[in-house]
Formats: sequence, C-alpha cells, structure tokens
Amino acid sequence: STDPLVIFTPSGKRGRFPVGTPVLTAARQLGVDLDSVCGGRGICSRCQITPAFGDFPKHGITVSRDALSDWNSTEQRYKDKRGLIDGRRLGCQATIQHDVVIDVPPESQVHKQVVRKAASARTIIMDPATRRFFVEVAEPDMHDPTGDLERLKRALRDQWQIDDLRADLAVLAKLQPALRKGNWQVTVALHQDHRGGPARILDIWPGYHDTGLYGLAIDLGSTTIAAHLCDLADGQVLASSGVMNPQIRFGEDLMSRVSYAMMNPGGAGEMTEAVRMALNGLVQGLTTEAGIDPALIFEAVFVCNPVMHHLLLGLDPVELGQAPFALATSDSLSLPAAQLDLSTVNECAQVYILPCIAGHVGADAAAVALSEQPHKSKDLVLVVDVGTNAEIILGDESRVLACSSPTGPAFEGAQISSGQRAAPGAIERVEIDPATKEPRFRIIGLDMWSDEDGFAEAAAATGISGICGSGIIEAVAEMRMAGILDPSGLIGSAEQTGTPRCIAEGRTHAYTIWDGRPEGGPLITVTQGDIRAIQLAKSALYAGARLLMDEMGVDKVDRVVLAGAFGAHISPKHAMVLGMIPDVALDKVQSAGNAAGTGARIALCNSAARAEIERVVQQINKIETAIEPRFQEHFVAASAIPHATDPFPELAQ
Ligand code: FES
Repeated sequence: STDPLVIFTPSGKRGRFPVGTPVLTAARQLGVDLDSVCGGRGICSRCQITPAFGDFPKHGITVSRDALSDWNSTEQRYKDKRGLIDGRRLGCQATIQHDVVIDVPPESQVHKQVVRKAASARTIIMDPATRRFFVEVAEPDMHDPTGDLERLKRALRDQWQIDDLRADLAVLAKLQPALRKGNWQVTVALHQDHRGGPARILDIWPGYHDTGLYGLAIDLGSTTIAAHLCDLADGQVLASSGVMNPQIRFGEDLMSRVSYAMMNPGGAGEMTEAVRMALNGLVQGLTTEAGIDPALIFEAVFVCNPVMHHLLLGLDPVELGQAPFALATSDSLSLPAAQLDLSTVNECAQVYILPCIAGHVGADAAAVALSEQPHKSKDLVLVVDVGTNAEIILGDESRVLACSSPTGPAFEGAQISSGQRAAPGAIERVEIDPATKEPRFRIIGLDMWSDEDGFAEAAAATGISGICGSGIIEAVAEMRMAGILDPSGLIGSAEQTGTPRCIAEGRTHAYTIWDGRPEGGPLITVTQGDIRAIQLAKSALYAGARLLMDEMGVDKVDRVVLAGAFGAHISPKHAMVLGMIPDVALDKVQSAGNAAGTGARIALCNSAARAEIERVVQQINKIETAIEPRFQEHFVAASAIPHATDPFPELAQ
C-alpha cells in the first residue's frame, strides 16, 4: 500500500509520508513555511494548521475525518489551558493517518507577507534576523564539567542546527539563573547574520517565553530623523515618529556641518553626541507610545547620507567635504547598538547600516534602490529622492547608475522668503487662474481651498504662516503657466501682467499669494529671489538626471518615481512644468513616498534583503557630478522654465 498523500495549501506543496508522521515534520521536509518556536513540544502553538475534509476533485482525493491522529495529551493540554480556534490543530502533535489537505494560516507562517497600504508598494516578506528559539538544555553533573553556555550551545546545535554562536557578557550574566528557574528549559532571542557570520544570543528567558521582539527602522536625515517601531513577527509598524536633527545648530546643510567639523576641534564629536542623544529620545518616545518594554527592541536599521553616516558612527566627515570624497567605509555595517550609545533598546541589540553607494550617494539612496528595485525593472526608471540633496538613480534590469546633486534646501521651503517647513498653516498647494491671475491655495491641516466659503474662519485656528516646499513648487509652476513668469524666470510688473498682485520690490517684482496684514498676519509673496533659488535647485536636479541619461545613452526615460517625504507631495504636473524632471507622460510619474524609510523597513524585516542590497550596490555605477563638465552645461541649460533646449512634448499634450 502507498503512504498517505499530504497536500499543503496555499503553497500547493505535496508529498507522501508514512502513517504517524507529524504534520510539522512533513512541512519541514517539503519546505512548507510553518513556524515553530518550541521545536515541536506543543508549547508555542506557532505551528497551528487547519485540516480540510471532504472531496477534493482537483487533487483527486477524499479526506476523511480521521485523516489526522486523535488529540494526544500534549495537544489536549494545550487546548484546555490556552484554547485553540475550532478546526485548528497543533502541527507538531497531529500526525498523518490518511490522505489529507492541510491549510497553513498566515499567522503560522514565518515568512508572512506584510500588507502595505500603497498599491504600488513592494511587498515585504518577513524574514527577520532576530527570532526566538525554545531549547531544552542538559543539566550539568559531576561527570560533565562543561559550562552552562557550552551546554546551551550544544542544545541549540542539536535542536535547531545552529552551530556558530556568541553570547555577550550581559547574556552570560542572565544565563545561569534563567536555566535553573526554567528547569533547564529556556527561550533565547537569537540574531542570525545574513552574511553567515556567527549567530548571537541577544537575550535569554526561563522556560517558554512568549514575548514580542521589536526593531527600529530609522531614516537619519540631515533635517529630520524619522523612525518606525516595528514588530519583528509580522512587520507591523506600532509607532512612528520624527524629530528635527539637532545637528542643525551646527550647520543647516551637510557641507556646513562638514565645515564645522573642519574648523572646530572636537566639532565632529559634538555633532555625534547630539544626534545620538536625539535618537535615544526619539526611541524612548516610540516605546512609550507603543507601550513596549525597551529591552524588547533587538534591532535597529539605519539609512542615511554619507555625512550623517559618519557622524552617527563617530567618524570625522572631513574627507567627505573634498574630492575625491572618500568614505571611511562604504560597506554595510553590523554592530552592537551599545557602540552607538543607543541606550533605550536591549543592551545587546544589533544595528545594521545599509551600504553607501559612493561618497555623495549614501545608504539612504541604497535604501531607495531596495524599495524601488530599479535593478529588477523591465523599463528604464528614473528614481529621484528629493531632499536637501537629491539622490538620483537611473536604471533597469541590465544596468543601474546613480549620482547625487546639490539641490540645496529650497525644495524644502528653506531659503525662500516666506518659506517654512511643512507644518499646519503652511501653504501646500497653489492654483492661479490664467485669466484673472488670482490665486487660490490650500494650507496644511485644512481640507478646503482658500476661495471656499468659511475658509477665513476655519484658517484662523492655525493661521496662514508661510509656504512649504510643495507649495513653492506649485506657486512657481502656476506663475509660469499664468504668464506671470517668463521662461527665463523673470516676474513681470503689474503693468506687464495686468495684476496688482505683482508688486515692485526694488528693481524686481514679487507676486502676492496672501496678504494677511489687515488681520495682523504675514504678507506671503513669491519674490524674484525665491524664483532664482528654485531655479538653482531644479537645474541641479535636472542636470543630475540628464547626466545619468547621457551616460546611459538615452534621451528619454520610461517612467519617473518621485521619492522622499517631500516627493510624496509634489504634483507631477507642476514638477514637469518647472522642468524638475525630464519629459515623460504624466501618468508615468509615480510617487513612492518615503522610499528610504521603506527600504529601512524592508532591511529590518527581511535579512535576505540585506544581502540583496549589498549585491546591488556593488553593481551600481556611480557618477560624480562635481567633476563632470557636462553637469555644468546641463545645469546652465536647465535654468530656463522648463528648459532652454530640451523639448517637453508631453507638456504640450
Ligand atoms: Fe510549538 Fe507546535 S511547534 S506548539
């Protein structure tokens, strides 16, 4: 007679197994993703499965009620004490008797898919580096003089096939009490390195310890530090928060911070200390908000630009301020969080920092590549991460190029006369009627246009305080479309434009968007200086993209992805009217939101993704804009709105 046939759903994996084989064992042998923390002892219930009964014509089998064994005492005890959903069985206890179809519910899979909100978003498959393992350790006796740690290692090798193990002193200190309290059964949090290095025991608890494990995905930007606190079992974000980077007081932009380090002995150290303190505060806020014990945070993944990278690590960034922009290291880094003075996490927590692409193109750009995957794209995609510095990636599955371009902070509303950060009260969207030249706008925090009834009363709560990055881009593009601005970027006078909103300012003009002075508010205008600042920023961005296109030998890209927290708010039409991005059909411009942050989350949840991005970064061709003469040519030509020579046929549509 033949052995019973076992079919797992949803994977469809199938095989024949001798009567009496535990379902978990069959799953293991077929490579079915079925979780287990206790190693099949009927303790953890992570192996829950649902057998299906009846006729399965598709598979050509009929499953009888007795396809699985009766409940044994272990399984019964678990059900009585902890309860099991109707129809569920413990896969490690139930054994195969006859042909059977077995469903593995999502929560029993290790490699769960994380549901993400954005439709275009890459799915994250859970494969965390840190997981829990339950082990039974042999008791010491007079004839076996080995240490407790050695016997724990032996148990992990025999029961979980993990051989190369390290334990920090902090774990060693907890080891002996945990083993005795747990009656020689313990649960360990184990960090397995994706490069195949030794696994590390990060923590140990007596008995079976059903605790959550958590991690941090941190996007360390020069202006803001954003962090997500994630559950390492299912990838859910439990809390997110951001703070200003306190290094701003040492210099607004990256180069001024490098200068600060060059001019002031100990300056780099001051900035390192400032950012580490801010990180601890940020993480503390997140754990409080989520109601989680900081000692359960076992991992943190960082993405950042090269200067932030060096300052976080306590490395002097001086070399990054001058050609040839050598990094101390461009490789990814794995190190204990304690080395970065991260004290609001488990004392043995591990940090992973993504690799840098080049001296100007950092781990943040690598994270964007991990999230957007240009290296797997069939069509040629231009990914632009817009911030103080723009990171630009161009590529497809055959080749990927990257550069960074010094856009300056104008796109973030800095160096703009009425500019401000994106915060309630900031003008974020602008439309100008081409006939009347009258503007209407929206402010952050209020879901209505300025020409709707009741706007003034509703806006009184926050006030109208200034104009943020996306607002200034829309304002300038709308001014151009309404004929207030000529192609060279000059604002016309009241006579030339026919609107009193164009007011004289010295020898130039400014366009009034909002005059709040009668109510004691600000006068918000777009000045000639603002236009110049935006022109410089957009020329730098466009020139960087063109340089990559030259290198690739193309004059058109198939699609454009706008990334960055700010990229999420730029309207594609306005970006193209300004000539920020090369001409492409508007429906081929997508927003990826904070792709760097997403990349950090992917690397946190999936340790194989760390290996993937390390490989991809090796293959990315870096183009250095600073030494490329064509960059200057492109930059000058890109100053016109949208461009002096390049055609923008899609705009005409
Ligand atoms: Fe732990 Fe089945 S594997 S209960």
